[in-house]
Amino acid sequence: MKERILSGMRPTGKLHLGHFVGALTNWVALQDKYECFYMVADWHALDTEYANTDKLRENTEEMVLDWLAFGLDPKRSCLFIQSHVPEHAVLNIIFSTITPVSWLERCPTYKQQLQELSDREIRTHGFLGYPVLQAVDILIYKATRVPVGEDQLPHLELTREIARRFNYFYGPLFPEPQALLTKSSRLPGTDGRKMSKSYGNSILLSDSEKEIERKIKNMITDPERIHANDAGHPDACVAYQYWKAFAPERASEIEPQCKHGKVGCVACKKELAEIVITTLRPYQEKRHEYEKQKNLVREILEDGSMKARKIASETLAEANELIKMW
Ligand code: TRP
Repeated sequence: MKERILSGMRPTGKLHLGHFVGALTNWVALQDKYECFYMVADWHALDTEYANTDKLRENTEEMVLDWLAFGLDPKRSCLFIQSHVPEHAVLNIIFSTITPVSWLERCPTYKQQLQELSDREIRTHGFLGYPVLQAVDILIYKATRVPVGEDQLPHLELTREIARRFNYFYGPLFPEPQALLTKSSRLPGTDGRKMSKSYGNSILLSDSEKEIERKIKNMITDPERIHANDAGHPDACVAYQYWKAFAPERASEIEPQCKHGKVGCVACKKELAEIVITTLRPYQEKRHEYEKQKNLVREILEDGSMKARKIASETLAEANELIKMW
């Protein structure tokens, strides 16, 4: 029996290169070894975007198109939509009753988001309870592994605490899941900050070749380098991070050339753009195929959600039994 994993992404629309180098490649590879559940976390998106839901449906579709194009395989993995499995909401009620508010208030992601999203009212019940719902997402499938980035580790710790507390009160039902940390490094945005659509510094997986060329051309390089034959500092250069991610062998040739002022930034980025474009091309072609078959995409998600729902309702029944609900 394969171990079961679950992971989720909030539907933020088209994915970018950061997702590709990080989560997505990892998710695709895990399909060989695990029974995989990949979830569109649309209720989680509501936690911050509740006042602005016009794009929610479109964002789900665009994200799932990228999932499929980049190799998430509905024959092997269960791709589903959180809100199509209402059992999550029911187990969320149960978990909410056993989770002390102090556990949630001390969560570093919560404190950080309160500061970062100070432009909107997110001191809501739902937002505070975000990690409780995330624990539901994982535990309702009894997943034992959760592929996530480091920023999600506190949520996983909370998931284990909630599992332990449930098991202690009512009897053993939930495993304590472990993280499967995404190894690959984080790819910065074209301006060197964290890649994020809201910063306008991301390269989308579905960007046209022209768009990719333009964005890479404008990418920030070593700020101390003014003339093409100045000695460069690859470690302080955004483009070099991309080189390492997309063509590690060629990167080790470019590195000394840059340090000795033998290759200029313009030429370096031109070659880089070509490499990124060639890497993405086969996926983009596959994406165009799926774009023509939106009904298929809808069917995949419906099938996945039905399969997920079957397991989720079994777990919920077991939980109710242990709690001695009528
Ligand atoms: N919180 C995760 C994120 O922002 C998304 C998510 C929701 C998730 N539910 C999950 C990840 C369950 C792993 C498991 O990236």
